[in-house]
Amino acid sequence: MNDKQLKKIKIFDTTLRDGEQSPGASMNIEEKLNLARQLARLGVDVIEAGFPIASEGDFEAVKAIAQEIKGIEIAGLARANEKDIYRAYSAVKFAEKPVIHTFIATSDIHLKYKLRMSRDELYEKAVNMVKYAKSLTEKVEFSAEDAARSDFNFLCRVIEGVIEAGATSVNIPDTVGYATPFEFFDFIKKIKEKVKGIGDITLSVHCHNDLGLAVANSLSAILAGIGQVECTINGIGERAGNAALEEIVMALELRKDIYNAVTGVNTTELYRTSQLLTHITGISVQPNKAIVGKNAFSHEAGIHQDGVLKEKATYEIMTPERVGRQANELVLGKHSGMHAFKEKIISLGYLLKDEEIEAAFVKFKGLADRKKDIYDEDIDSLIAKSHPAEKYELKYLNVVCGDTVTPLSMVKIMVDGELRQDSSFGNGPVDAAVNAIEKIVASKSKAIAYEVKSIRGTTEAQGDVSVTIENSGIQITGRSAHTDIVVASAKAYVNALNKLYVRNNSVDKSVCGMEMHS
Ligand code: KIV
Ligand code: ZN
Repeated sequence: MNDKQLKKIKIFDTTLRDGEQSPGASMNIEEKLNLARQLARLGVDVIEAGFPIASEGDFEAVKAIAQEIKGIEIAGLARANEKDIYRAYSAVKFAEKPVIHTFIATSDIHLKYKLRMSRDELYEKAVNMVKYAKSLTEKVEFSAEDAARSDFNFLCRVIEGVIEAGATSVNIPDTVGYATPFEFFDFIKKIKEKVKGIGDITLSVHCHNDLGLAVANSLSAILAGIGQVECTINGIGERAGNAALEEIVMALELRKDIYNAVTGVNTTELYRTSQLLTHITGISVQPNKAIVGKNAFSHEAGIHQDGVLKEKATYEIMTPERVGRQANELVLGKHSGMHAFKEKIISLGYLLKDEEIEAAFVKFKGLADRKKDIYDEDIDSLIAKSHPAEKYELKYLNVVCGDTVTPLSMVKIMVDGELRQDSSFGNGPVDAAVNAIEKIVASKSKAIAYEVKSIRGTTEAQGDVSVTIENSGIQITGRSAHTDIVVASAKAYVNALNKLYVRNNSVDKSVCGMEMHS
């Protein structure tokens, strides 16, 4: 069967909205724009860019993405009320193809305890809010939150109502990841059979991963005839996350015989997109993660290695190149000039302005002085680094440590242009550095997670550090890479503080803590 005869499945990426709701995954505008550019290169059909009413920062990010990213749909999320919907409209209206995505829960459990509404009241609200959204934009998506646990007949009544009111797509979320694949297949099939007008709109699903079934449920829904799937890069999202985009796309790509479907995704951009997200959020995927995990294409057992050497197909169902993992890469070093660096940047798919390339080249030269071989991952980490607001900047770090001394650090930090310094002991050199930073900034943050990985190479490799801090219930992850892991750790901590500062100064407090999204 050739691809033209296969059904096209729209990929609705919600990494920047549901994905960003993962603890520690918040991103600033520059980072969101960077990721949106990569999602466009990847070939998704819809980017859900954020939840504009949630904060000023979210609004500005959705607006910036709508203004810049052309050719694909840009959606903004809104609860089913006029204020949210108008705010979402005000941000997405700059897009070539704007979408207002409005949602309200339809399950009895949400109606009773969260919304405190009757089914009839809910029905009215959903229909009226879709009408209102439709008066603002042509494309309106309606999501029946917790659809998978909703009363079937009531759900169908709501879907029929919102279609009549003008919804162009209707999303069936398994908000709490409770569904199982056969059950979800039947559920979608029955909705398709029962709801009038369902064939005139795009039917979508949005599965969470609480039982590890998000991808399986999404694929079942594709078999049952949906036209769009909502997913995130690396499967990040609320709680256990959302369906992983890369897994759905590769399942469809490899098993056309089963799914009879294609997507518009350029699969060779999958790995880069996953890496970019990891660099931005500081959240790595587990080594055995399908498609993008470190070990996804490694063969350890002797029998497997022998088989692969004789014929790759013995143990490999896809080549690493097919998902953008390079077999032969050009490694840069300190003798590499601007030309080679620029070529590398282009080959990695980055679209940078000349001044951005020059700034990255300066950082590259600094790194090349400390490290012999510069791999693609090193370049990704140089480019992905962003400098939100830079309220705090690490200017100096000196740590005395060893097996017979109590580690002692001396730190200087520029705070709003003023140089401050302090010193502290600690349980180890990193702890000493972080304690001194906290003495200076007094943010009252607590480090709750800390991870160091090497970016390839051996003992001269860069240490890639991520630190997650918690402050007043907010978790933020900072990240940095350096050949000195204590420096990388201090910088990662400062990066987290800068992100926290941006967040605290942009969040609309009136929306925080309200029931909003899942
Ligand atoms: O999980 C969910 O129900 C959601 C909706 C807002 C689509 O994220
Ligand atoms: Zn969700």
